[in-house]
Amino acid sequence: MKIVHISDIHCNYGTDFNSKIYEKAVKMLNKIDSDIVFISGDLTTDGLISEYEYAQKKLKEIKGKLVIVPGNHDERNLGWKLFPEFFGETDFIHTYDEMNLVGLASSEPDKDNGRLGRGRHKLIENGIKKDDKMTVIGFHHHLVPVPNSGRETNIIDDSGETLDIILKKEIPLVLMGHRHVPWAVKIHKTLLVNAGTFSCNRTRAHFGNTFNIIDIDNDEIEVSVVNIRKEKQKKMIEYNFEDGCCKNKYYDLDL
Ligand SMILES: [Fe+2]
Ligand SMILES: [Fe+2]
Repeated sequence: MKIVHISDIHCNYGTDFNSKIYEKAVKMLNKIDSDIVFISGDLTTDGLISEYEYAQKKLKEIKGKLVIVPGNHDERNLGWKLFPEFFGETDFIHTYDEMNLVGLASSEPDKDNGRLGRGRHKLIENGIKKDDKMTVIGFHHHLVPVPNSGRETNIIDDSGETLDIILKKEIPLVLMGHRHVPWAVKIHKTLLVNAGTFSCNRTRAHFGNTFNIIDIDNDEIEVSVVNIRKEKQKKMIEYNFEDGCCKNKYYDLDL
C-alpha cells in the first residue's frame, strides 16, 4: 500500500499560498501510483469561504483518492462549519484491504493548539478493535515536540493520554503535520511521522516545501521525503513493526 502524505497547503489570496510550487508538486504527485493521498490539515489559512472554495478547486488537480482531516487554520472564523460541507466528515475510520485509517480533527475553533479528547480516544480504540488489520492514525497537530520547528507550541493538550493509548495499543503509524517540517521518530512500537508544508511560503530554513511517500509492505513501513523544489526524494525512516527493527535516516536527509 502506498500513501502520499501531504500537509499544510494553506490556500489563500494573501502571501501564504505558493501556487507555482503547488503546481509543480501536483505534477510530481500525479506521477505516483498511490492508493490514497492523506492530507493532514491546514488546507486554508483563515478558514474563509473564499479559501475553502479555492482549496476545493486546487485539490481537484490531484489525481487519486483524497482523505482529509482539518487543521487549526481551517477552523478559524467559523471555518469548522465549512469543512464538512467542502471535504466531508472530520472524524472517521476508513477500512482498506491492508489497514484501518482513523482520521481525527485535533483542532478547536479559533485556537492554534489542539486536543483530541475522550470521544476521539474512543474512536482510536474502536479503529483498533475492528479487526486484525494494522491501524494508522492521522491528525493535524504534533504529538511530541518536532525538531527544527522553533519554540515548542501547540502540541495537543492531551498528548500524554493520546500517546499512552497509541503506545499501549502498539499502533504502528501516526501521521501528522502542522509544524511545516518533515520528521519521523519511533517511540516504543509506534512510528510518528510529520509531513512538512506542501505549498505554504512559510517554510523553515532550508527545508522548503516537501511531502512524504509512505510504503507499507507486509510488516515494513518506509517513509521518504520529497523536496519539491529540488525534485529530490530521500528515505527518511524504515521500520519493521513485526521485528521492531528501525533505521532512522532523518539526520542524513540533507534536504
Ligand atoms: Fe500550517
Ligand atoms: Fe497548523
